Amino acid sequence: MSILLTDAIKLGNWSCYQAIKIQKKKDKKERIGSNMTMSIPTKSEVNKEELCFYGSDPGAVKHGNFINYYSFHDVQERINNLHPQMFPTPIDNKLICLDIGCNTGDLTKAVYEYLKSLYPNCDIHILAVDIDSALIFRAKESNSYPYITFSTSNIMSEEDRLPIIHFLKSYKRMKFDIVFCFSVTMWIHLNNGDNGLLEFLQYLKHISNTIVIEPQPWKCYRKAQKRVKKSGNTFELYNHLKIKSGVDIIIENILKTDLYCKIYESPSSSWDRKVQSFQLTMESVNKC
Ligand SMILES: C[S@@+](CC[C@H](N)C(=O)[O-])C[C@H]1O[C@@H](n2cnc3c(N)ncnc32)[C@H](O)[C@@H]1O
Repeated sequence: MSILLTDAIKLGNWSCYQAIKIQKKKDKKERIGSNMTMSIPTKSEVNKEELCFYGSDPGAVKHGNFINYYSFHDVQERINNLHPQMFPTPIDNKLICLDIGCNTGDLTKAVYEYLKSLYPNCDIHILAVDIDSALIFRAKESNSYPYITFSTSNIMSEEDRLPIIHFLKSYKRMKFDIVFCFSVTMWIHLNNGDNGLLEFLQYLKHISNTIVIEPQPWKCYRKAQKRVKKSGNTFELYNHLKIKSGVDIIIENILKTDLYCKIYESPSSSWDRKVQSFQLTMESVNKC
């Protein structure tokens, strides 16, 4: 599979389609947490062809499902932007986490190690999901952590959200202790419009005690649209978005409602992104 994906980078979509053909067979066998405690199948509503990059540019993707993301975004630099204050005190010596849009899982694994260094005696379980089953296949292939479960899931699909809730309930939790959402909001916004973004932010609060989020500012949207336009395509909803400049501030303001408050904001990274942490007030009453 990794050979096919390397080829996909070099050759463009032909290899991508080959990878998808193989992946379809693998999908039949896919079970959430096959290496772990759960065995609930997930189903993504997204058309597989929609997950290929446009033309021969692996950067021209519809969902941010870059096949070579970690070759241009250093994981350690991302971890350096985290801070212990972002995280809650573990309950029952356990942290049950969700990572939304995990790509090939490189950052998920580094976050797991980071949390483990903060809480060495704590059981840390992460469910990491991505819309693109080829990325999840690669994440699973290189996963040596039994406490990280990778699963294909479109977080905007009601059906795909069910196994996520089953995972949570298997740990007898009403909400995840931490939900990570690194560089995903823009892709959800571009593909689901303003209402989709707003619904997603409500969903985040519904399932999380702590939200650790790295939202993309508006200039990233412009760049993404430019990249797909070069290959003769477009984000159809781009010109209809009413939430535009200041989108990151709007996201922050929404996440600061319903008893959640911001407890930490990192400095901007070298690529001008901030990581913020929001906690349900009951948890963070002394920190706000
Ligand atoms: C730019 S990458 C960020 C990867 C990782 N979170 C990080 O910051 O290192 C965005 C990821 O979100 C995934 N994604 C986009 N829309 C999604 C959705 N609706 N459900 C699940 N994953 C999604 C993409 O496939 C892609 O892997």
